[in-house]
Amino acid sequence: MNIVLMGPPGAGKGTQADFMKAEFSLPHISTGDIFREAVSQGTELGKKAQEYMNAGKLVPDELTIAIVEERLARKDCLQGFLLDGFPRTTVQAEALKRVLQKTGRKVEAAINISVPQDILIARLSGRISCKECKTVYNTSYSPPTRPGICDKCGGELIQRSDDRGETVKNRLLVYQEQTSPLLDYYDKHKVLYNIDGNRDSREVFYEIKEILQGL
Ligand code: AP5
Repeated sequence: MNIVLMGPPGAGKGTQADFMKAEFSLPHISTGDIFREAVSQGTELGKKAQEYMNAGKLVPDELTIAIVEERLARKDCLQGFLLDGFPRTTVQAEALKRVLQKTGRKVEAAINISVPQDILIARLSGRISCKECKTVYNTSYSPPTRPGICDKCGGELIQRSDDRGETVKNRLLVYQEQTSPLLDYYDKHKVLYNIDGNRDSREVFYEIKEILQGL
């Protein structure tokens, strides 16, 4: 299964990806996670990506495409993959198509999770995650048992630096302008599935699971 997971910031892509990879054993490729890891390790990639991420802008296409192309060429992706947060521009979508065509592959489903904007803002401002094991919580919707402490490993819970004020607004704007046109793109390719993400995350997953089982 070659799956693309789409939706605005805070729609629940990462949350659903966790369910999906557990159920279908797919390698999960999140460009956001790759960039955050590079930033925390202080690599050249991290230094380049950080200024764009902090401003709520997209990291340049050529940098992002090169990373995904390298990752998709690895053995574990040949039987299927779950892309989360990529593609985000038409240039990225076209590059993905070309890269997959080289090995006779294509995107089989683009799962688009929709959530109203006011809920997205509430979710992003309440998101906290564990510094150690990366488990994600939400201060309003799924709080940890003890404030600031991870239930799973006892690690410190922190807020993502791009989940604050103006950066959130910019990310939502960038999504509207640069990423939402991809819904049309995948609709024309007859692989778009729209999901209402404004429900309990297990209900959302149940619908995604049915779609994937029907592929
Ligand atoms: P990225 O990490 O991809 O962020 P994003 O797309 O903005 O998405 P988020 O991770 O914020 O949200 P999500 O949809 O995964 O929601 P989550 O499940 O966590 O990208 C970050 C940055 O990296 C970009 O701004 C850009 O700079 C750069 N970048 C990444 N990819 C790029 C690309 N391809 N090209 C260029 N630049 C790129 O859920 C959010 C919160 O809601 C959590 O607290 C969760 O617990 C809660 N929640 C989830 N589902 C539910 C539910 N059903 N009900 C209640 N609460 C819920």
